Amino acid sequence: MTVDKKAIALSFSRAAPRYDSVARVQRQVGDAMLAVLAGSAQPVETALDIGCGTGTLTIKLAPFARHITALDIAPGMLSVAKQNDRQGVISEFVCADAEQLPFSAEQFDLVFSSFALQWCDELAQVLADVYRLLKPGGRFLFSIPVENTLRELKLSWQKAENRYHHVNDFLSVVQLQTLLVQSPFQTLQLKECLDMVYYETVRELTRELKTLGAHQVTSNRAHSLTGKKTLFKMMSNYEHFRNHQGMLPASWHYCVIALQKPATITPETKEASQ
Ligand SMILES: C[S@@+](CC[C@H](N)C(=O)[O-])C[C@H]1O[C@@H](n2cnc3c(N)ncnc32)[C@H](O)[C@@H]1O
Repeated sequence: MTVDKKAIALSFSRAAPRYDSVARVQRQVGDAMLAVLAGSAQPVETALDIGCGTGTLTIKLAPFARHITALDIAPGMLSVAKQNDRQGVISEFVCADAEQLPFSAEQFDLVFSSFALQWCDELAQVLADVYRLLKPGGRFLFSIPVENTLRELKLSWQKAENRYHHVNDFLSVVQLQTLLVQSPFQTLQLKECLDMVYYETVRELTRELKTLGAHQVTSNRAHSLTGKKTLFKMMSNYEHFRNHQGMLPASWHYCVIALQKPATITPETKEASQ
């Protein structure tokens, strides 16, 4: 997939003011990640949050790091993050692309990222770059949606129209594991999770995705307005998933991953990171 970065920045900037009102899955995922940190980490000196969004999670990194940098590609998200940071726990706000991180080597003890790296073309490259930014012994904790996320919506669209992608493709767990094995990191944890969210109507779901800014932004997205007929077909296809309680499910399938840069760099790990 080729991701349109300008479209992402625009879509998330527009979504920023209302993002927190609908980010319930994102909050749940974030809390699971903070629990991982609380269970294991000593407070560190420097942390970076990639794809910080409105900063709600970034602020919660305060007990774990003294100097926190928040990075996002969407200026609108960073503006809301600044407003939300009333206590001033975030030291630095950086508008940049996760695939072109503007930092020098061995600057951070902790790199954190929740539900942002799915918007990158080359996760392998991001892993290599984060490895470079981390101090020896530093950790990278991230969460990412995987293959079955929004599968009901994807299948409903596919049956209605095959020409365009209406839902992003996510990596499979196997692809993710392969990337991790090929990276120079030590994997401390890979936890696979499935959360279901229920809606009364398909419109409720699509409206929520729009409010999140989580539009379809790959190069094969439907450029023209989708016809009403196709939209109704998709909505009628989605009805097949209605459950016994009369609700429509939406799957959020994701992994929470904790990685570590070895404290002692051997010639092999050094070579792997180059
Ligand atoms: C679903 S939101 C998650 C925000 C936050 N981490 C949270 O959990 O609430 C995804 C965020 O990633 C940002 N993002 C997407 N692609 C990015 C990229 N290539 N570089 C930096 N940030 C990116 C978006 O602007 C958005 O703020």
